[in-house]
Amino acid sequence: MKALVVYESLWGNTAAIARAIAEGIGPGARALSTAEASGAVVADADLLVAGSPVLAFSLPTDKMRESVRTGPGKAPSPPDLSHPSMRSWLGALPKGHAVAAAFETRIWWSPGGATGAILAGLANAGYRTIAKAQRFIVSGTYGPLREGEVERARRWGAELAKTVG
Ligand SMILES: Cc1cc2nc3c(=O)[nH]c(=O)nc-3n(C[C@H](O)[C@H](O)[C@H](O)COP(=O)(O)O)c2cc1C
Repeated sequence: MKALVVYESLWGNTAAIARAIAEGIGPGARALSTAEASGAVVADADLLVAGSPVLAFSLPTDKMRESVRTGPGKAPSPPDLSHPSMRSWLGALPKGHAVAAAFETRIWWSPGGATGAILAGLANAGYRTIAKAQRFIVSGTYGPLREGEVERARRWGAELAKTVG
């Protein structure tokens, strides 16, 4: 099975979860940023998993990304804006027929979320959802991930692999 775990990640938390999910899925899986996951790369995947952080209660907008780039913020490191937003990646995603799943990283108490918009974008491109969307929790605004979340992501990856078969 060929699987891709595609992510947007400004401070690395979502990227770390994406890598753990890919490990859990197994040797046929790779974690790629939205810049690396071109239409041609995605085209022959059997399973497509997509994830992003929740910023300002939703899937990050380009306006939000611009505001974290220019804003004062208290970030421990500058945001990684080298890859496009998940939102724009989904907008450009060519039609596909594979199965799909979505995840987000976030603080535990926030309203809103990103996976609804991710799943809608995947469905719009023809992908069929096969699992309940997952939330992985950070302990502070910029991270780190809560203890146990990386292991949970690995387990979820293994479950997805079983579901796809
Ligand atoms: C400017 C900013 C806004 C955020 N807004 C939310 C939010 O509305 N809800 C939430 O659950 N988490 C929010 N967070 C927490 C991020 O979702 C969390 O740190 C995420 O893991 C970052 O992912 P990344 O390291 O892959 O970029 C926010 C973080 C920042 C820096």
